[in-house]
Amino acid sequence: LPTHYTLPSGDKIPSVALGVWQAGEGEVGAAVKVALEAGYRHIDGAWKYDNEAEVGQAIKESGVAREDIWLTSKLWNWFHAPEDVEPILDKTLDDLQTNYLDLYIIHWPIALKKGTFELDEALTADPYPTWKKLEEMVDKGKVRNIGISNFNIPRIKNLTANPLKYMPAVNQVELSYWNPQPELLNWCKGHGLLLEAYSPLGSSKQVRETLQLPEVQAIAKELNITPAQAIISWHVQRGTVVLPKSVTASRVKENLQISKLPDDLFIKLEKAATSHPPQRMVNPSKSYRLNFDIFDDYP
Ligand code: A2P
Repeated sequence: LPTHYTLPSGDKIPSVALGVWQAGEGEVGAAVKVALEAGYRHIDGAWKYDNEAEVGQAIKESGVAREDIWLTSKLWNWFHAPEDVEPILDKTLDDLQTNYLDLYIIHWPIALKKGTFELDEALTADPYPTWKKLEEMVDKGKVRNIGISNFNIPRIKNLTANPLKYMPAVNQVELSYWNPQPELLNWCKGHGLLLEAYSPLGSSKQVRETLQLPEVQAIAKELNITPAQAIISWHVQRGTVVLPKSVTASRVKENLQISKLPDDLFIKLEKAATSHPPQRMVNPSKSYRLNFDIFDDYP
């Protein structure tokens, strides 16, 4: 299985990252250190996760050189106004104790007025002004690659209909057994857009059910690997980056050990995942008080 993917910039992004969403204060730093010690070289974070200072401190204390680590962060919904982008990026850089990110992502295709649930309709309808500012951050050397998250195909088309200087390098979306999104995956592959799988084990809500699936158990038994390793391997074999979250040392280590599944077992799992009605684990449309669903066709 690929250990890296090459982005349009030529940069090589490691295929497995430690995800730190929902990794709390006092535990995330230890998880980052365990991960770097175990060989992870990719940390996927965000301003919104409210743990970047602890992540930054752990990286520093790990002794692993900054340039050997792939660091991703995300621009929160409150900061899409062009004048707000650079100050909040600077805050992330300060917290992470670095002067550049490998990847900076628009966290949601939803712009909210700063500190509120009031929709910024213009920047939501067309995020090009936000994107242009991100392109400027690339040219300034503060970020090496820029991408998007939670964009469906219509929203990707809507953004890329603008005269972009840099195309989105990745789209980070929910991908799991429960919501495998084969259409989005195929479309993105056809358009040279790498997907990154968040909540790859089904998120804390469904992780137990995922690991107990008969197809997953069968693979684990046959290959003498764990159910989590079977699922994480399946993701990379589908051609995506995978971002399993764990703050448990043994699981952090376990999740990095992936291996190619024999074709018949891979196809069986892919078929099982894509032949039940998809079930999305993460959809904050209601909690953002939107009068539409983020994942509906758009416009
Ligand atoms: P914890 O962080 O307490 O170790 P996802 O990446 O899909 O969001 O799933 C994250 C959830 O899955 C967390 O609750 C995490 O628990 C749990 N988890 C992560 N890795 C494993 C593993 N290898 N085996 C069992 N549970 C895991």
